[in-house]
Amino acid sequence: MSEYEKNPGPNSSSRQSLEQAAMQDEQMQDVHAQLMREKEEPHEGFSPVPIFLMFLFAALCFWGGVYLVEYSGDYRWDAYSPDFKAGVERAKPPEISLVERGARIYRNQCAQCHQAEGNGVAGVYPPLAGADWVTGHPEVIARILINGLNGPIEVAGNTYNGNMPAFGPNGLALNDRDIAAVITYVRQEWGNAASEVTPDMINQYVGDYGSRTAPWKAEELREGLGPVPEAAPEEPEADGEAPEAEASDAEVAMAAE
Ligand code: HEC
Repeated sequence: MSEYEKNPGPNSSSRQSLEQAAMQDEQMQDVHAQLMREKEEPHEGFSPVPIFLMFLFAALCFWGGVYLVEYSGDYRWDAYSPDFKAGVERAKPPEISLVERGARIYRNQCAQCHQAEGNGVAGVYPPLAGADWVTGHPEVIARILINGLNGPIEVAGNTYNGNMPAFGPNGLALNDRDIAAVITYVRQEWGNAASEVTPDMINQYVGDYGSRTAPWKAEELREGLGPVPEAAPEEPEADGEAPEAEASDAEVAMAAE
């Protein structure tokens, strides 16, 4: 070994590594050249799905269909009840009573003014509990709800003078059944004990007053009332048709008798 190699100058190590790097570059290019040369040719299209997979998939779909037909329970809500029999007539979901329905509507539509207990707000909103406007002739309260009310009114010994909104077709547009329900509720809640008011009766009153746009005045409310309709209890058969279905005029006339 020469003296030089044994004892390299201060710069020699960096020169060596530079040379090494150059060599490595050449090698690397060689390797890459090989790789580029031997690369697989690109080609168009998809590789085909194995045919047995397609059959498997078709069989799976078929089995799924058969399974649903056999075990879906006709997608019925009562499929888990012990009485369930596939393909036999559909049981109706339990319906809430008119009063229960009325309670819900009262909470949503009336309680903000007349209060949850029906006592109203002194001087502003009259009470419904113990008010003879509520428990008297059903046409009176039907008129109030369908067209609204304004001007002075005496309720349970106090005078009020405000605006009661209309809930009929020209107002907040509750349907007949909802109006009947809330009227029945306020007539029978908080110690009130008046007769039920059915959707058919409301249907008739809406026919009479639905087109009226002016709210009632207290002194008009008891004028020209019709006979009190017989409140036939709601028959399950009568419910067969959709609850909101409009009764024909003939039916209304019959219900009025
Ligand atoms: C925006 C407040 C408000 C709402 C909501 C409201 N009312 Fe009234 N209601 C009044 C006011 C005010 C009066 C009194 C009107 C007047 O002074 O002429 C009144 C009067 C009445 C009356 C006659 C007077 C009495 O106390 O017996 C009845 C019945 C009545 N409302 C029932 C209802 C029912 C049922 C609902 C829900 C469907 C309802 N109201 C929703 C404000 C309201």
